[in-house]
Amino acid sequence: MSATRRIALLAIIALLPASSVAQSGRTPAPARHGMVVTSHYLASEVGADVLKQGGNAVDAAVASAFALAVVYPVAGNIGGGGFLVYHGAEGEVTSFNFREKAPLAATETMYLGPDGEIVDNSNHEGPLAVGVPGTVAGLWLAHQRLGRLPWRDLVEPAVRLASDGFPSTWAMQGFLRGLTRNTDPLYGPTREAFLKDGQEVYEPGETWKQPDLARTLERIRDEGKDGFYRGETPELVADFMRRNGGMITEEDFARYEAIEQMPVHGTYRGYDVWSMSPPSSGGVAVVTMLNILEGFDLEEIGHNSALYLHLLTEAMRRAYADRAEHLGDPLFNPEMPVDRLLSKEHAAGLRSSIDWFQASPSDSSAFSSSYLPAESEETTHFSVVDAEGNAVSLTYTLEYGYGSGLVAAGTGFLLNNEMGDFNPVPGRTTRSGQIGTDANLVRPGKRMLSSMTPTIVARDGKPFLVIGSPGGRTIINTVLQVILNVIDHGMDVAQAVEAPRIHHQWLPDNTRVEAWGISPDTRRLYELMGHEVWTYSQQGHAHGILIDPGDGMRYGAADSRAFDARSVGY
Ligand code: DON
Repeated sequence: MSATRRIALLAIIALLPASSVAQSGRTPAPARHGMVVTSHYLASEVGADVLKQGGNAVDAAVASAFALAVVYPVAGNIGGGGFLVYHGAEGEVTSFNFREKAPLAATETMYLGPDGEIVDNSNHEGPLAVGVPGTVAGLWLAHQRLGRLPWRDLVEPAVRLASDGFPSTWAMQGFLRGLTRNTDPLYGPTREAFLKDGQEVYEPGETWKQPDLARTLERIRDEGKDGFYRGETPELVADFMRRNGGMITEEDFARYEAIEQMPVHGTYRGYDVWSMSPPSSGGVAVVTMLNILEGFDLEEIGHNSALYLHLLTEAMRRAYADRAEHLGDPLFNPEMPVDRLLSKEHAAGLRSSIDWFQASPSDSSAFSSSYLPAESEETTHFSVVDAEGNAVSLTYTLEYGYGSGLVAAGTGFLLNNEMGDFNPVPGRTTRSGQIGTDANLVRPGKRMLSSMTPTIVARDGKPFLVIGSPGGRTIINTVLQVILNVIDHGMDVAQAVEAPRIHHQWLPDNTRVEAWGISPDTRRLYELMGHEVWTYSQQGHAHGILIDPGDGMRYGAADSRAFDARSVGY
């Protein structure tokens, strides 16, 4: 940038008033005791009912997670996986890792043909894309450790929703109409599960019953984890896999275990930040970015001003480059430098390389050149706080919306396509869409790298903000911006969740901005600093809860970007 242009920019920015908090128009939902915020009003009600019956945050999370598997099949699941971060009212912190695993028969090159190319998009589509599901094991383990009410009472509401039915909504119409056009026999059981008489679309408001799913859930209700990982369900899935060229066997189910592990910890302006540790990249990246940004007076710079967006972008660029280079399943990558990435010293080094007025290049020389594909919204996050002040932040997923779209006949639930989160071609990192670095290659029993970032921010040892989002790699940046909105810009939780967001992920080297979220003036200034802007419709569904440290009131915010989301408290 020329010296004159640099001075002109500096002058413009210096003259701009720091912008006040962004739009909202929405108000947070207040409650004195407990609060549940999920992507579907029925699942929020199920969780809030559990709290009213004396259940704690983990009980409510278990009940809401099973309910979402019935009423929000785009991402709610028992056929996928995810992460739960817990912060007790008295300071106990832990997390549960129930990310899917590669089948025992999986290999590094399982998606490649003789020419070394991926065969038929098989890492994203079809039976080979399915990872061994973890959700039921994770909910079971969390309940064993921290639950209070009987397990069966927590699964029962989901059984009822599946057997008695519930009103279909507009949100499912696209998927249902797609299914009516899909004649592939592989998806026959999916049509049986999702269409009226296996053929017609349930219109919004029509009651949709899922008898096979109800039976699968009854086995989980009555036999706990074994009701899913042994017996009929694995037999039906393994049979489906054998018939259709998949890999998952009964043994894969029998050997699946969820893990209790410590979340990642960081500090930010006097707050503690607890978030998911690897195999999620979310916690490490969000703490790295907060550490970088702590060195700037963001409040003074002004929310979503051009300079603010520039500094956020530069923090994002650096944290996402680290993510691509280092992160994967820790059980297969014992040397991962997590402590270094989380340190204030590392962040200070990264911060010192940021130019105040000029974008840095995304240097990909270490990986030849890389391109990380765009992400959809199809994961789901929910937040829970109970009457005692214990908090749960849970994000789980099937990867794509409705996952692989595959249902094993007789089970009634969708299987994930999470294997697509592994690096599919060893050693090949190209602009056309592949990363080939070692940390995240396929291995039998390994968990694929994730971006899910269920997070709890605490103040003086007590939960303060519970937050997370769907959106693939955008998740980490969504969570970052909600945290900054609350801590640096003094927004309430609804304003913080609603405010426009941006996303930069190192490569491709452009910034995605919600189309309605940046003024032409700001955009021009931001572009003058060397950033390329792409607009897109929306980023994430960040469902959050804030606990007022003064009077203990819980404030829920269901992101209005999500169709059926709701906060329910009491
Ligand atoms: O674990 C992950 O990071 C992804 N499988 C999450 C997927 C998601 O949010 C929606 N879209 N791709």
